[in-house]
Amino acid sequence: MMKNGEIIENQRLKGDYFKVRFYAPQICETARAGQFVHVRITPRGDRILRRPFSIYNCENDALEVVYKVVGGGTKELSELSPGNVCNLLGPLGVSFSDPLPGVIPVLVAGGYGAAATYLLTKQVSQRGIFLIGARSKSDVLLTDEYQKEKYEVRVATDDGSEGHCGFVTDLVAQLLKEKPDEKFFFYGCGPHPMLMALAKLLRANRQKGELSIDHLMCCGIGACFACVVKVKADTLPGWTFARACVDGPVFNLDSVYVE
Ligand code: FES
Repeated sequence: MMKNGEIIENQRLKGDYFKVRFYAPQICETARAGQFVHVRITPRGDRILRRPFSIYNCENDALEVVYKVVGGGTKELSELSPGNVCNLLGPLGVSFSDPLPGVIPVLVAGGYGAAATYLLTKQVSQRGIFLIGARSKSDVLLTDEYQKEKYEVRVATDDGSEGHCGFVTDLVAQLLKEKPDEKFFFYGCGPHPMLMALAKLLRANRQKGELSIDHLMCCGIGACFACVVKVKADTLPGWTFARACVDGPVFNLDSVYVE
């Protein structure tokens, strides 16, 4: 009998990017795209802080997370083997919403932001377009998986090593130009500067959408205020703080505060 949070598989996708698959039937029952799990990584329990990871996929009782090794915690996670058990809290946070019928979902990812939007391919009945921007070819992730789900995939890299040479927002602008009469709903996830550029572009073109604003988190459940982000407000000074962990991480484009 498997334990909740038990690792079923933990494999390298490419470079520093990994995919871990946990046994997590309860989380999988209700998880939706854009939500996250808060993971206490070590099975020995000597790492007190949890780390938030976007839910990449849920298949039957298995929860999948795609992550990049960026520090001590994620390195430790990459070294865990099937049979090790992590403590999982989730699904947490606000999820992406479904587009209206007849509207094409456009998923816009920066780097491994690609992991946060994938579940939409399962959740949303209409097929859409997946736009990914990354530093170079080695950071372009999950395009095959989106293609398998019959999404049209377009790639941009900063150095031109794959797809368009430039930013993912160039792909968005190009799409809007190509299909001016189409109704789109945009879903964005990626680094903050990319999201801000995306928000500006979409607003200037009167498009609708939601952005997942990733932020450093501590408690993950709304108690510590470590994760506050600015959101628009009607009262002066025109913005207020919201907690990314419980009020987000997904925010409507209309409420995103663009610096
Ligand atoms: Fe503690 Fe959001 S992480 S309030």
